[in-house]
Amino acid sequence: MREQQQASRPGDAADRFTFADTERDVVYRTIRDRRDVRRFRPEPIPDDVLARLLDAADHAPSVGYMQPWSFVVVRDAATRSRVKDLFERERVAAAQFFEEPRRSRYLSLKLEGILEAPMNLCVTCDPTRGGVAVIGRNSTPETDVYSTCLAVENFWLAARAEGVGVGWVSILKLPQLREIFGIPPHVVPVAYLCVGYPEQLLDRPELETAGWLPHRPLFTALHYERWGARSHPAWPRLDRLAGARGRSPAPWPAPVRELVARIGALDRDAMATARAREDELTKPQGSLGRLESVAVHVAGITGNARPTLPRKAVVVMAADHGVAAEGVSAYPQDVTAQMVLNFLRGGAGISVLARAAGARVIVVDMGVAADLPAHPDLYVRRVGRGTRNMAEGPAMSREEACRAIEAGAAILEEQAGLGLDLVATGEMGIANTTAASAIVSSITRLPAARVVGRGTGIDDNGLARKIAVIEDALALNRPDPDDALDVLAKVGGFEIAGLVGLILAAAGRRIPVVVDGFISGAAALVATEIAPSARDFLIAAHRSVEVGHQAVLERLALDPLLDLDLRLGEGTGAAIAMQLIDDALRVLDEMATFTDARVSGRIE
Ligand SMILES: Cc1cc2nc3c(=O)[nH]c(=O)nc-3n(C[C@H](O)[C@H](O)[C@H](O)COP(=O)(O)O)c2cc1C
Repeated sequence: MREQQQASRPGDAADRFTFADTERDVVYRTIRDRRDVRRFRPEPIPDDVLARLLDAADHAPSVGYMQPWSFVVVRDAATRSRVKDLFERERVAAAQFFEEPRRSRYLSLKLEGILEAPMNLCVTCDPTRGGVAVIGRNSTPETDVYSTCLAVENFWLAARAEGVGVGWVSILKLPQLREIFGIPPHVVPVAYLCVGYPEQLLDRPELETAGWLPHRPLFTALHYERWGARSHPAWPRLDRLAGARGRSPAPWPAPVRELVARIGALDRDAMATARAREDELTKPQGSLGRLESVAVHVAGITGNARPTLPRKAVVVMAADHGVAAEGVSAYPQDVTAQMVLNFLRGGAGISVLARAAGARVIVVDMGVAADLPAHPDLYVRRVGRGTRNMAEGPAMSREEACRAIEAGAAILEEQAGLGLDLVATGEMGIANTTAASAIVSSITRLPAARVVGRGTGIDDNGLARKIAVIEDALALNRPDPDDALDVLAKVGGFEIAGLVGLILAAAGRRIPVVVDGFISGAAALVATEIAPSARDFLIAAHRSVEVGHQAVLERLALDPLLDLDLRLGEGTGAAIAMQLIDDALRVLDEMATFTDARVSGRIE
């Protein structure tokens, strides 16, 4: 079940030192609402305010208490103009590091307020302060600069509480500041800050709202006990407890809650045993690269230190999308049904590749707009006759999205009953890259243009129309990015929702899920927003050509096994990856150890 946000109180001993709730809230608010400011009003900062800010900076922690910082307060306009010239030169030089169209975007960003702000502050570090031997600095000399950065952060936070804005300008050749300010050679300029009352204060970083980069969720930065361990049986999900962005959205409907509750954590013991065996096999340690880590990962998922996954299925979920009416695809809607028939005849790309991988293909009609003839391999779980057009209103109701999730989970359960060790996600649905892009844009908060690709191969005009359709649909339906079910319902699709259910149920059964490309990735994104621990049960098959897929992989912190310029969908990339996973497991299971083969180990 989704963990509730709770303000837990420490025990009696800690209570003596704990702030009152209101005080504590102010501290966290100051930290969360601190922004890098680039647009300033011209009014000067009163001296008493500036004094408090500098005093806050001067109370930063420092290695061995060396207090290495100094502050050059700069109000003179001519001096600031010289710094601005340095910035301009660097800004243009740095543009070469970006490819178009990102280069033009970079050049259009406002990245400083050197002249607009009434004052600047140059913060320096003196590595000689505190004498030759400073406690803690001798082993790690950089700690003097770290300490100086903490002084900057203190200044920045105190400024937020005073309503003063601070912008850090690093697009400068810092040593050149030495000459401008007469800083002695042994002193290092560390930070150059613009300081003044802000014109506006955004509630999110400007680079995030401008679509440059999304906020990485806390879980991508969290490791439990060991690097790479995203969860641990003995640990709660700290990222969820922290309450991303301080909000707690509506609880999931009961069936979804049940699916989430079944998902456990990776089996660390099985992983440790598998890793130990990998290291014992007759090869230099780590020399089989990702094959080794995949096998260890599968050991963690299955709880079996020497797993084999003979019973495989690619589940292809198909559905139609009302938004196809907006001309966002190069193919007509009828193609969805025609391709389903092709799957059933065994003639599609996925039919061939699944055969090669030894995987059965399960085709699920989650909501195709046409009537399909009965077929023993076709599972009919229709939630509707295609979704509604998201350009005119929500694609589905929350209830329909939930039903589709349940149907997807039930398919997994059914297949598990027949014997299933490894499952791959596949999909078919004309216009479903539009739905997937809308989901990804909403959840990652990236602008549509950053995540929309050509899908089945639309031309430039088609691409521009697709972007506009998605932007309009997001503006009209206003999905809540903190509520993945809302996003799924308003701009998703039946087959995507079905895959969400499939993924959650597979994770709950400790069955590894091989996630195909962009559409499947959008489903995985929704699934992990609903249940972050589901992420540990996913194996990303490949990096799709669809641009938005990269954003999905980054958000999920998943490294795909293959990069083959695929963009077909259907589960094709996942089927290929299944063979690779088999190879990885065969190595773990069948290769001889140094002891078995009487081969000498490494010379220590
Ligand atoms: C060391 C450092 C250097 C930075 N340099 C620049 C800069 O040159 N120009 C700029 O506009 N922002 C700069 N920033 C601000 C970051 O882009 C900003 O902190 C980040 O986007 C998060 O936004 P927020 O500070 O508003 O939360 C810098 C931040 C740090 C910590």
